[in-house]
Amino acid sequence: MSEWIGFLGAGYPWVKAAHVIFIIFWIAGLFIVPRYYVHHHATTPGSAEDRAWIEREDRARTIILTPAMLISWALGLSLAFHLGAFAEGWFHAKFLLVILLTGYQGWVSAFGKKLARGERPLEGRSLRIMNEVPGIFTVLIVILVIVRPF
Ligand code: HEM
Repeated sequence: MSEWIGFLGAGYPWVKAAHVIFIIFWIAGLFIVPRYYVHHHATTPGSAEDRAWIEREDRARTIILTPAMLISWALGLSLAFHLGAFAEGWFHAKFLLVILLTGYQGWVSAFGKKLARGERPLEGRSLRIMNEVPGIFTVLIVILVIVRPF
């Protein structure tokens, strides 16, 4: 892996800027889609409102969430190889958190499919708690990358 160190050359700050830009899109998507679910969850299956939320959620997932997540991963991994970050403590912790955040996105997609099938699987309160997950991860990840406490 060490032969990759520095491979981005003068492109490094551009890749880092692009990483932060796509992270903003990704996290924006992770804030908005579960928030849509809080409203969607309260609708009657089969109603016009239900169908409108299904459509909105589908668009947000396919236009924002999935592409922003994949591009963020590609750019983040390029930065990690460029820096040789796999040997560093802060990166191990960040890597674990981004894997968990990607898993959360899997839950978001699966939950959207359930709502679209007319299921209402969670209490409104549990759904609000699930809404806090991306915010908490953002705080922890940004501290890890900027402060690098270890
Ligand atoms: C998807 C997998 C991800 C990988 C593999 C990854 C990896 C990296 C790496 C290696 C750096 C380089 C640090 C440097 O150049 O000094 C970086 C920078 C950064 N990452 Fe990520 N990252 C990922 C996701 C995220 C997420 C989810 C967030 C925020 C919630 C985030 C926020 C940042 C920020 C703010 C920086 C800039 C830090 C600086 O200016 O030094 N990253 N990332």
